[in-house]
Parts: sequence; structure tokens; C-alpha cells
Amino acid sequence: MSAARVLRLRLLCISGPNLQLLGTREPEVYGRETLAAIHARLKTRAKSLGVVLDARQTNHEGQIVDWIGSAPADGFAGLLLNPGAYTHTSIAILDAVRAVALPCVEVHLSNVDAREALRRRSYVARACIARVSGFGADSYELALDGLARVLRRGAARA
Ligand code: DQA
Repeated sequence: MSAARVLRLRLLCISGPNLQLLGTREPEVYGRETLAAIHARLKTRAKSLGVVLDARQTNHEGQIVDWIGSAPADGFAGLLLNPGAYTHTSIAILDAVRAVALPCVEVHLSNVDAREALRRRSYVARACIARVSGFGADSYELALDGLARVLRRGAARA
């Protein structure tokens, strides 16, 4: 294995509940692109940025907590996280992101601040370096670009 391959940044993208339904779920809010298509697009973008991306989805809060908790041991250097509705309820996910201390970007397809009041509170935001929200499926790619830049900047300084 070449040195360049060994040093390649690995990033983990986690999407939470109901996001497996993208494509048919409230298309006027979330668009018509499926999560599989978004993941494929993200992986292509990751490749062009020289990073490796693992993209996953679950409907279960504890699974998100488990994936975040094992991310450092699994070799991930940063997180893209769309916790879905758990954004607005989950202190456990907030604590998990804090516990691992990996740079994490909060991602939403919709512009959560422009929607119902219940979506304006994000627990996980307190542990994130940034949020990308409202660009539809492109939010994921824009968040990936931002996270890769932050990590590169950090690596250049080290
Ligand atoms: C969402 C916004 C949340 O409020 C909602 O519960 C979701 C999707 C988004 O990507 O826009 O499931 O995270």
C-alpha cells in the first residue's frame, strides 16, 4: 500500500430516521433524489477531493450513537451528520459527538430555521463546527467540501 493511500483522510457520513425514504418523502421539501444517489454523488466528490467516504443510514438513535462512538477507533477523521428528527430531540447524539471530539458538520436538506418552530432547536449544533442547511441534496456535498477544507487546514498547521 502506498504512503499516499495510508494517509488518505477517512470521513463518515451518517443520516438518521426517515432519510431512507428520500426520493418519495415530501419531495416538495426534500427533493426527488434518493439517498443512494446522494451517497453515490458524495463518494464521487470525496474521490475528487482525495478523501475516503463511508455513508450510512439508520432509523435508530442508539445506532447513531454507536457509529459516532466507534468512529475514532474505526479511523475516521471527521463526521457529516444529518440526524433527521433526532437533531431536535437527542442529547445522546450531542454527547456522542462531544465525546469523540471529531470535527462534525451538521447537514440538513431543508432550511430547518425557515420551517416549524420545533425544528429551530438543534441539540447537536452545540458540538458541531458548522451547519449546512437548505441546499437540498447538495447540502451533503457542500458540507463535505467544508469539512475537507477544515481538516486540510488543520493538517497543514500540524
Ligand atoms: C432534516 C430536517 C429535520 O427537521 C427532519 O426531521 C428530517 C430531515 C433535513 O435534512 O432537512 O428528517 O434533517
